[in-house]
Amino acid sequence: MLLFSTDIDGTVYDGPEAAAKFADFWNRTRRLATPPLLVYNTGRSLEDSLSLLGRTALPNPHYIISGVGTGIFDFAEKKVIDLWSLELSGKWNFETVGALVPDLLEGVKPQPPECQNPFKSSWFWRDRSGADLEGLRSALVAAGLEAQVVYSSARDLDIIPAKANKGNAVLWLSQFLEIPPGKIVIAGDSGNDASMFLLSGVSGVLVANAEKSLVEATAEVNPIRPRGSCAEGVIEALQELLDMPVAAPQR
Ligand code: GLC
Ligand code: MG
Repeated sequence: MLLFSTDIDGTVYDGPEAAAKFADFWNRTRRLATPPLLVYNTGRSLEDSLSLLGRTALPNPHYIISGVGTGIFDFAEKKVIDLWSLELSGKWNFETVGALVPDLLEGVKPQPPECQNPFKSSWFWRDRSGADLEGLRSALVAAGLEAQVVYSSARDLDIIPAKANKGNAVLWLSQFLEIPPGKIVIAGDSGNDASMFLLSGVSGVLVANAEKSLVEATAEVNPIRPRGSCAEGVIEALQELLDMPVAAPQR
């Protein structure tokens, strides 16, 4: 494994304890002959991700993929990779999506402004079925948009350019870094992680607390399913994949 692309919330982080456990484990990978790169791949905005890293023990990554694959940030250079943002333009229009959605979807509410970005229109829309999401997809196509619909936690609705999503973003980054899919491990727990699991050739870690719809959406790719939840599950799976000795339990 040369690159580990992990979701944050519910996957390596659900509070200070998980952050500390994951940090402790990740620091041990730095002693391997070829330490893997760490990529956080999250629905959070870049600002929110950086703020979280500043106030928790989570280890610093090499890259942050933010906003469900709508931005890639080089952590060492402290720079957004513009080349990826350029890929996302095209038949996408944030204002058109914003005007369309409230008329179309009953009970939809916009997420707060800090959750929006020019390539991510995010809403709360509770307990929706596959048919509801299909209806929305058709309406976006009819409006001439090349957009995709990502639904997580039976609540969060993200409408993003067709070329975005967590999977496409990490695939693009891995090609940019010349890392083949067979050397990539990904981990996640909710709907917006599905696109990472479905990348051909990568190994996926589905933590035990993963939501049912993600378990169903990824069944065909047979992900690794550790017994542990959140950071514990990730550590359990990576220790095995990296052939690392299990750490002595901490007192
Ligand atoms: C994060 C983001 C939110 C998004 C959700 C699912 O919670 O803050 O905007 O809808 O992830 O992708
Ligand atoms: Mg998550």
